[in-house]
Amino acid sequence: MTIKAVVFDAYGTLYDVQSVEGVTEQAFPGHGEIITQIWRLKQLEYTWLRSLMERYEDFASVTRASLDVTLAVLGLTAGPGVFDRIMEKYLHLDLYPDAREALAALKSRKLAILSNGSPDMLNALVRNTGLHEVLDATISVDACRTYKPSPKAYALVEATLGVAPDEVLFVSSNPFDTSGAKAFGFNVAWIERVTPQAMAAAWQRHDLVRPLTLFKALRMQMDHLGFEPDHRISSLSGLPSLLS
Ligand code: LAC
Repeated sequence: MTIKAVVFDAYGTLYDVQSVEGVTEQAFPGHGEIITQIWRLKQLEYTWLRSLMERYEDFASVTRASLDVTLAVLGLTAGPGVFDRIMEKYLHLDLYPDAREALAALKSRKLAILSNGSPDMLNALVRNTGLHEVLDATISVDACRTYKPSPKAYALVEATLGVAPDEVLFVSSNPFDTSGAKAFGFNVAWIERVTPQAMAAAWQRHDLVRPLTLFKALRMQMDHLGFEPDHRISSLSGLPSLLS
């Protein structure tokens, strides 16, 4: 395949959304894991609902609203300072350990992010983690005012980079995004961060289902929508050999 651009999802693929747990646990001791999981589930759910309702609000607003509802459903109250401190972590999320090296190894091609994140959030995150030095573009769905997996969102890649969909390798660990990108016409690499074997073992380890286990079941297993990725690799480090 002739791949001219490698385009990455941001949250969950290059950046670890689970890394908010430090701040959620610090703010609400004993509740960090449950807040972290419900927050992310609701955040994505709200993007899909807003897209279907044709009531777009940017991802910063969706992220605030989903943290708000999470605390509400758990019966927790945050003062304004605490709420903003948790939100701030979204501008300083941890990069996955395999991200920097994989990007460096791919630099002969155009490299970009296509993310639901609003431009302010994404640009701050990319800059804070130094990825602005290796990326050719950071593309936000804000330009089309609807969220992935809408084809309008994926079409922003060609509009921005001038590279046709069949010359793009789209990389995501989010199953819904993987299916959406494949349906759109990209070559797709799914970063399978949780294998079916690890998933099966996780169910057996706990009498009570841990919230993180539930999250992995709901959001980190491939969906059955009839759009399989072209490649399944266990980490970003597998990308260079895929393209060689
Ligand atoms: C993003 C979402 C999928 O970065 O997490 O677009």
